[in-house]
Amino acid sequence: MTIHIGAKPGEIAETVLMPGDPYRAKWAAETFLDNPVCINQVRGMLGFTGTWNGHPVTIQGSGMGMPSLSIYANELISTYGAQTLIRIGSCGGMQDSVKVRDVILAMTASSLSTPSRGIFKELNFAPSADFGLLHKAFHAAEAKGVATHVGGIYSSDVFYDERPDLNEQMMRHGILGVEMEAAELYNLAARHGRRALAVLTVSDHLITGEALPSEDRETSFGDMVEIALTAAFA
Ligand code: HPA
Repeated sequence: MTIHIGAKPGEIAETVLMPGDPYRAKWAAETFLDNPVCINQVRGMLGFTGTWNGHPVTIQGSGMGMPSLSIYANELISTYGAQTLIRIGSCGGMQDSVKVRDVILAMTASSLSTPSRGIFKELNFAPSADFGLLHKAFHAAEAKGVATHVGGIYSSDVFYDERPDLNEQMMRHGILGVEMEAAELYNLAARHGRRALAVLTVSDHLITGEALPSEDRETSFGDMVEIALTAAFA
């Protein structure tokens, strides 16, 4: 057990999918895993372990934002030995070529700050995905016929943004979408020699103002879970 995860040693798989929302962790585990067992309920941040095609998998909520994700990812890595951590979540589209419902595979994650900033100080470290996972996720998405973009994203500290100029600069530099967790996940994976990737569904669009209707959210989220699982084990 850790401060924030109640699972016993051995109850968490080496491959962990991390949605922000704990109820999405429950839905994904019950929909895609065989014999899912709830292994964490601390603070309601639900986690489940089961198998997918015979492979052990844990799906653990991360909460919203990098400080929350950092707590769960640190404990998963350092105490439970997680080797492959894949964020599955939503993002806001930042380019005209990126449409609502499309999938973005985050090759890099820019940020204004992350919980790791204290380590890097004046250095601008470039948080990046594991290439093997990225490559396999891309092929899995193509095979499913899902419109997929690979490139840089922006991990913001805020959802309600008082600095629209930052989004403008990100868009001007070709960033595909904005979310709030991936940069710190990539930092931690780099620090501990683990594999990480963020697979994101575009749920809303910063340019067009369009948003994914709630009835479409489940299907789009399901595609993302299958892409992440295939990437982990292909
Ligand atoms: N901003 C930050 N995070 C997000 C957004 C957004 O517009 N959409 C989904 N996650």
